[in-house]
Amino acid sequence: MVQIAVVGSINMDLVTVASRFADPGETLIGERFLTVAGGKGANQAVAAARLGARVSMIGAVGADLFGDQLWQGLQSEGIDLSHVQRLADTATGTASISVAEGENRIVIVAGANARVAPEHVLAAEATLATADAILVQMEIPLATVEATLRLGRKLGVPVILNPAPAQALPREWLELASHITPNQHELAILIDAPAERDFRTVLEQQSLPLVMTRGGEGVWFRNGDQIRHQPAFQVEVVDTTGAGDTFNAALAVFLGEGIETAVCKAAAAAALSITRLGAQSGMPSLAAVEALLEQQA
Ligand code: RIB
Ligand code: NA
Repeated sequence: MVQIAVVGSINMDLVTVASRFADPGETLIGERFLTVAGGKGANQAVAAARLGARVSMIGAVGADLFGDQLWQGLQSEGIDLSHVQRLADTATGTASISVAEGENRIVIVAGANARVAPEHVLAAEATLATADAILVQMEIPLATVEATLRLGRKLGVPVILNPAPAQALPREWLELASHITPNQHELAILIDAPAERDFRTVLEQQSLPLVMTRGGEGVWFRNGDQIRHQPAFQVEVVDTTGAGDTFNAALAVFLGEGIETAVCKAAAAAALSITRLGAQSGMPSLAAVEALLEQQA
């Protein structure tokens, strides 16, 4: 069984669905409201578990109602929570998400996620050492992202860095990752490249291990010295929230099958996730991913 460790955030997503986005100062009558489990770290953990991996999560929640609900949700997915802290004096992280016209707008408040510290990662060294791959994103302190990258390198375990939400990082840290998975916007901030530069050119000019995603246009990556493009699977878009997380999780889970296969399966999993509302509520099973691949073959 593939083992995955995820160092990252745990949020409650407060999702409002409306026919369009409200303008500043405007009050709009919406269609639907739901609270769903989210957070890039937890999303990636859940997606990996549904794809058949054994998953350990390193993170934190507050000792509040959201924290309890999220804890139970992760537990029911079979995720090992021995390195998830419950902090008494801070709130659980939240994401306020507006969904309209197949797009989303998100405001996150870190809460307990801001307290996931480098020590916390170091304390999980034995768990990280047995992982086939480690996933890390940027909704936790950047010092913790750095600690994860350094520990992964020391242990010889590949670390997939999902540089989201977008922030610049020192080049030295980027070189510690086995794979870096920015979308177009994140790439522009991460390596200070003009946003309009095409991905093929970026790969020709960059030695970084980039796996770049561009929604419906697919994924660009390197396989040895070849530049490769994986087209997106065409599906009906309901809600793209969590699609990136599903992609990253699948990449980690299938990495052992080679980059070409891993990217293809990750694209299929991400496509399925956007056909359903919500982050974790929309993440596919291994059987669903295999069915889509078969159907398209
Ligand atoms: O990547 C999607 C996630 O980003 C949401 O679940 C939300 O919690 C935000 O953190
Ligand atoms: Na979704």
